[in-house]
Amino acid sequence: MDGTAGERAASTAAVQLSDVSRTYQRGQPVHALVDVSLTLPHGSYTAVMGPSGSGKSTLLNCIGCLDTPDSGTVHVDGREVTGLSDRDRARVRGEEIGFVFQTFNLMPRLTAEENVALPLVFQGVDRDVRLDRARDLLDSVGLADRTDHRPSELSGGQRQRVAIARALATDPALLLADEPTGNIDTETGATIMDLFDDLRDEGHSILLVTHERTIAEHADRIVHLLDGGVERIEELGNRQPEGTPTDDRTEGS
Ligand SMILES: Nc1ncnc2c1ncn2[C@@H]1O[C@H](COP(=O)(O)OP(=O)(O)OP(=O)(O)O)[C@@H](O)[C@H]1O
Ligand SMILES: [Mg+2]
Repeated sequence: MDGTAGERAASTAAVQLSDVSRTYQRGQPVHALVDVSLTLPHGSYTAVMGPSGSGKSTLLNCIGCLDTPDSGTVHVDGREVTGLSDRDRARVRGEEIGFVFQTFNLMPRLTAEENVALPLVFQGVDRDVRLDRARDLLDSVGLADRTDHRPSELSGGQRQRVAIARALATDPALLLADEPTGNIDTETGATIMDLFDDLRDEGHSILLVTHERTIAEHADRIVHLLDGGVERIEELGNRQPEGTPTDDRTEGS
C-alpha cells in the first residue's frame, strides 16, 4: 500500500467511472446502470440517493469489485478494476476497498477482534500483529471493552462499529457503505455518522448509499440516481476537497 489514506496523491481520483452500464438478464433485461460517468476525488465524501431499484447498490458493487459492468470502465485509486481477473479483483477488493453493509455481515463465530483482523489474514499478516491492529481499530470506534464479544453479544450499533473497524483494517483507498444505518435506530445511527465524519476528516474517501436525507447531508455532495442514471449532483457546501466530483457527461466530453 502506498501511504495512508490521507497521504495519497490527489492526482489520481479515488474512483473514476466512465460510461458504466450494467444490465441484468432476467427474462426482460433490467438496465440497472446506464452510462454512468462519475469522478470522486481522494478525500471526498459522497452520498448516493434515489428510489428503490434506481441502481444504488449496483453502483457500489461495480465500484467495489463485487459486480462487473457490461461496458465502461471503473478505476479505483488510479487502477482499472474492470477487466481484471477474478483473482486480481479479489485482491483489489481486499486491499483497496472497505465495505460496510446494512446487515453488518460479520462472521458469527468470530469475536469482534477476530472479525476486524480477518481481512489481514488474507494478506498474510502475523496473528499477533493483526490482532493488535484490530484492537486499536476497535478502540478507535469506542469498542475497546468489547473485543472478545461475538456479534450475537453486541447491539446493532456496536456490530456496525465492528464492521466499520473491519472495513478499515487494510487502510483502504475507499470506503463503500450501503445503507449503513438502515438496520439501526436513529440515535445509534447518529453515532455511526459521527464516525464517518471522523473518517472523512482523517482523509478517507467515502461513498455512502442512504434513503435518508439527514444522513446524506453529512456528505460533501449527493449523487441522485434515477432509473440507473445520474439525475443530478447536489453540492452541499460542506468541506470541499481538492477538485470536485463531476458528472463527466456535462463537461462537454
Ligand atoms: N443480481 C441481479 N439480478 C437481476 N436483477 C438485479 C440484480 N441485482 C439488481 N437487480 C435489479 O437491478 C435494479 C437496480 O437494483 P439495485 O439493487 O442497484 O437498486 P437500489 O437502488 O440499491 O435499490 P434499494 O434502494 O431497494 O436497495 C433493480 O431493478 C433490481 O431488481
Ligand atoms: Mg440497494
